[in-house]
Amino acid sequence: MRGKRVSIIGAGAVGSTVAYSLALQGFVHEIILLDSKTDVAWGKALDMSQAAAVIREHTIVRVASGYDDLADSDIVIIAAGAARKPGMSRDDLLLINAETVRSISKQIKEICANSFVIVITNPLDAMTYVALSETGFDRRRVIGMAGLLDSGRMASFIYEKLGYGSGQIRATVLGGHGDNMVPLHRYSTVAGVPITDLLSQDEIDLIVKRTKNAGAEIVGYLQSGSAYYAPAIATTMMCEAILRDSKQIYPCAVRLDGEYGYNNVVTGAPIVLGANGVEKIIEVTLNDEEKAEFERSVSSVKKLVDKLKEKKFYE
Ligand code: 2OP
Repeated sequence: MRGKRVSIIGAGAVGSTVAYSLALQGFVHEIILLDSKTDVAWGKALDMSQAAAVIREHTIVRVASGYDDLADSDIVIIAAGAARKPGMSRDDLLLINAETVRSISKQIKEICANSFVIVITNPLDAMTYVALSETGFDRRRVIGMAGLLDSGRMASFIYEKLGYGSGQIRATVLGGHGDNMVPLHRYSTVAGVPITDLLSQDEIDLIVKRTKNAGAEIVGYLQSGSAYYAPAIATTMMCEAILRDSKQIYPCAVRLDGEYGYNNVVTGAPIVLGANGVEKIIEVTLNDEEKAEFERSVSSVKKLVDKLKEKKFYE
């Protein structure tokens, strides 16, 4: 049986950190990077293969000379595109990155017709929509990474505030990966205890606010480029769930076809992720306030997709 192959399009900070994190896990046999800066990508690829060998894993990381080299990938990860600069929202990247994701998706459709696709490029939900539309793949196979990242960020802020419960925190973020994401404090727990029993409403409000702003906070410090460690490990966990068929419940960006009362829109929701990709979309019971927030988040994603339609991106 041949080993698992994951291809990553875009070997900048995010793409190459995904490759590094995957190379250290041992469940992928071959990682292929595709990037216009081929020499830099080769430098990184060799370094990563060697890092894997140091820990006695033998993942090979190599660089594609073109899309044809991506054939037979189990998963293709789209990490290409411009990153945010200080002061920019993820949505400001819409038109620049939509063109990039569109042309990549056309190639994936031709060359990787049976692959799963994980989208990381921002604005994440709209770019996942573009990838779904351009590949025409079943929605179970095209998934956006972000809910896991946002939930991890929320968990880290909960831990920072509490100072206990390390490894026992489960945070839940629904909705789009944008300023209107919906951190669900009612469903966030420490060893099963709701955080509403551990923190005051003011403390929770601050955690929610910081979670929504977490990407921008990092962009502000980096000045050039945006976060990559947490996005990379979140993507790695998604690959693991698919390739090891672990059927984990992870929040990810998926196309809703009736779930939560929405149709033909991509947003973050808890899914069961396994060998068939999105095996189930879980509909969490929301109260009126959460429903209103979710609605706000979904409509901001819809607005982005509408803007693409206005620009004749879609007829
Ligand atoms: C983030 O939230 C850039 O979306 C990315 O860090």
